[in-house]
Amino acid sequence: MAKMLPVTFLIGTIFLAFHSSVADSKTVKCHPEDREALLSIKKALNNPYLLASWNTSIDVDCCKWYCLKCDPTTHRVYDLYLQNSDLSAKIPPEIGNLTYLRELELHKLPNMTGPIPTSLLRLPYLNFLRIDWTGLSGPIPDFLGQLKNLTYLNLSFNKLTGPIPSSLSQIPNLGTIDVGRNQLTGTIPASLVSLKGNNLYFKVSHNLLTGKVPESFQEIDFGWIELSRNRLEGDLSMLFGKNKTTQIMFFDRNMFEFDFSKLEIHSALTSLDLSHNKVYGQIPEALVGLELQYLNVSYNRLCGQIPVGGRLQSFDYTTYFHNRCLCGAPLNITCP
Ligand SMILES: *[C@@H]1O[C@H](CO)[C@@H](O)[C@H](O)[C@H]1NC(C)=O
Ligand SMILES: *[C@@H]1O[C@H](CO)[C@@H](O)[C@H](O)[C@H]1NC(C)=O
Ligand SMILES: *[C@@H]1O[C@H](CO)[C@@H](O)[C@H](O)[C@H]1NC(C)=O
Ligand SMILES: *[C@@H]1O[C@H](CO)[C@@H](O)[C@H](O)[C@H]1NC(C)=O
Ligand SMILES: *[C@@H]1O[C@H](CO)[C@@H](O)[C@H](O)[C@H]1NC(C)=O
Ligand SMILES: *[C@@H]1O[C@H](CO)[C@@H](O)[C@H](O)[C@H]1NC(C)=O
Ligand SMILES: *[C@@H]1O[C@H](CO)[C@@H](O)[C@H](O)[C@H]1NC(C)=O
Ligand SMILES: *[C@@H]1O[C@H](CO)[C@@H](O)[C@H](O)[C@H]1NC(C)=O
Repeated sequence: MAKMLPVTFLIGTIFLAFHSSVADSKTVKCHPEDREALLSIKKALNNPYLLASWNTSIDVDCCKWYCLKCDPTTHRVYDLYLQNSDLSAKIPPEIGNLTYLRELELHKLPNMTGPIPTSLLRLPYLNFLRIDWTGLSGPIPDFLGQLKNLTYLNLSFNKLTGPIPSSLSQIPNLGTIDVGRNQLTGTIPASLVSLKGNNLYFKVSHNLLTGKVPESFQEIDFGWIELSRNRLEGDLSMLFGKNKTTQIMFFDRNMFEFDFSKLEIHSALTSLDLSHNKVYGQIPEALVGLELQYLNVSYNRLCGQIPVGGRLQSFDYTTYFHNRCLCGAPLNITCP
């Protein structure tokens, strides 16, 4: 009896050890460094309800926690998405400890404040960065240019100030820049021409940007360009041309001033908003040949007859009203 007890105990211990090692290697996918980083992020965010599942007494396998994804092969956390919460904190520097992060999304966190932290530099694999609808303030930091793997950058709907850093031009495969709805100032950096091979989606609308669109942008074939509601001025003809494939062009509510008749309109164009600028000349005949889904040239200084044909008469008169001397349908102004 005295000798049997240890044997039973030993068997039990072996069984338990075996069982838990199976659990560790087969079912607990989470890497301990990621788990530690996540728990420190949770703490820095003041244990928000959003992260209630990040709790080792509920599950030690952090790959099963909410608001993140683990890579199916390496089991490292590659995507962190915190959204729709009134959590009140800065972006925790501990996010930089999730070394294998490729996607970071901080979406609709209105009470998240403070700057974009330098700890993002410790995330060399980051390719998708979305921080939108937050209370973040301060500049778009120059150091973002060091995140060489970025392809998508969305910093829209925040309270960011200062210029668009020209360092973004150093991110070779950056294909999306959306910094709309902030309080950005300064000019659009000409250096961004280095991104010309990326069919760039470029949205800087609703800011306080000034100056002209860089002449070098002639070389860029944008997929989408949105400059609306800034204080930009000058010519836009460099963005047009027979070779361009840009479908969406929104330039409304600026101070652009150029002769519309002289634009070389490309056939891929489907949406064009030039409203509330100082555009003069006539509406180019080439617009008749396009599959236009949206057009607005209202509140400019245009003159002459609205070309007849294509989609041009299918838009209502508000597409054309408040110009200097436009005439013809759908305006009820007869041409002289
Ligand atoms: C983790 O979960 C347990 C059990 O549900 C709970 O008692 C504990 O307070 C939680 N810890 C944290 C840090 O949320
Ligand atoms: C996690 O990040 C914090 C702040 O950046 C740092 O002080 C800490 O040493 C890091 N922990 C680990 C385990 O790397
Ligand atoms: C979030 O911010 C708003 C406005 O600043 C404030 O009224 C509210 O109390 C904050 N919520 C939390 C949970 O801190
Ligand atoms: C960028 O990502 C690729 C694959 O996603 C990886 O091979 C490469 O090492 C990354 N670059 C850096 C600087 O980490
Ligand atoms: C960036 O985020 C905003 C706000 O959520 C969204 O409306 C917009 O479509 C996003 N931009 C891109 C290019 O995905
Ligand atoms: C248009 O493309 C052709 C062929 O790729 C090129 O030779 C020409 O210089 C381009 N024209 C303009 C105005 O970019
Ligand atoms: C064109 O823009 C003007 C000015 O913003 C606006 O009042 C009008 O409704 C717009 N028309 C169309 C068809 O979108
Ligand atoms: C002509 O259009 C204007 C708006 O541009 C409208 O106020 C007016 O009633 C129209 N007149 C006729 C005769 O349709």
